[in-house]
Amino acid sequence: MEDPRGDKITIPLLLARKAAGPKIVCLTAYDHPTAKILDEAGVDLILVGDSLGMVVLGYANTVPVTMDEMIHHTRAVSRAVKRALVVGDMPYFSFHLSADETVRNASRFLKEGGAAAVKIEGASKKRLKLVEAMVEAEIPVMGHVGLTPQSIHHLGRYRVKGTGAEEARRIAADAVNLERAGAFAVVLESVPVEIAEAITRKLKIPTIGIGAGPACDGQVLVFHDMMGYSTGYMPKFVRKYADLHGVMSRAVETYSSDVREGRFPDDATSYHLKPDVLAHALYPRASTAEVDRGAPPAPAAAAGAGARSKGRSPKGSAKR
Ligand code: KIV
Repeated sequence: MEDPRGDKITIPLLLARKAAGPKIVCLTAYDHPTAKILDEAGVDLILVGDSLGMVVLGYANTVPVTMDEMIHHTRAVSRAVKRALVVGDMPYFSFHLSADETVRNASRFLKEGGAAAVKIEGASKKRLKLVEAMVEAEIPVMGHVGLTPQSIHHLGRYRVKGTGAEEARRIAADAVNLERAGAFAVVLESVPVEIAEAITRKLKIPTIGIGAGPACDGQVLVFHDMMGYSTGYMPKFVRKYADLHGVMSRAVETYSSDVREGRFPDDATSYHLKPDVLAHALYPRASTAEVDRGAPPAPAAAAGAGARSKGRSPKGSAKR
């Protein structure tokens, strides 16, 4: 079996995973330090999702997210990633006018954002043509069916899709059509396990599930949700692996009381001047001889400052 932390992830490698495993691990990231953690931990696919709008930018849904916001964050992520495959999410209205504009916007993810692929929601006839146009322009495309959050105003609320026979058949057909149009993988969001399993068996390309059960070829979650960083409504499919919100809140509270009660900064987190430098710094008009004679007298705090400043920059300049 392939080493899950081994080679650079490519699209052929992801396709091979469909038959041979292991399962594809995908998480979202929107910034450099998070992407670095994910990449070093062996995550295969890093999706710069338009969930950015909700978990980072504070929008009520993903609709307001712009191309420029997506590119800005995709660049930060790509700069950190050595092994994973970075996928940029096409935001609402970046692929709704024409094939030309869609391909131009998608190409920005590769040329400016450093991503290797894009993701696009939906599989209407028009959308499938756009997928074909992007693939034709050498842009690998990941599809996304089931719950498509950019349709929030049509849907009214985020809900499980494919619970009725007709809707389930539609979702399966959408996934098949995306494969035919040239998508290299398809996200199945908020669909019953049974539908995801049937789609996964039918497709030659990998399925990446989010709220779609264990049969999918891979899984994705929104980083802020699985880390317990976001607050508020959380879908049933999220498993919380940490309590970042709690950890960070407690750290900020402790810092605040340390500052207010004088425990921070302390000697270990401060810089010192050597006593002779201190004397010259405080009494710049005193001659060297006066300073050497100890006149004017060095403040008590200067005593031993040389020892404490060991290992720091000589003039006490700030070094990280
Ligand atoms: O924007 C996003 O994070 C997504 C995933 C939830 C699949 O589209």
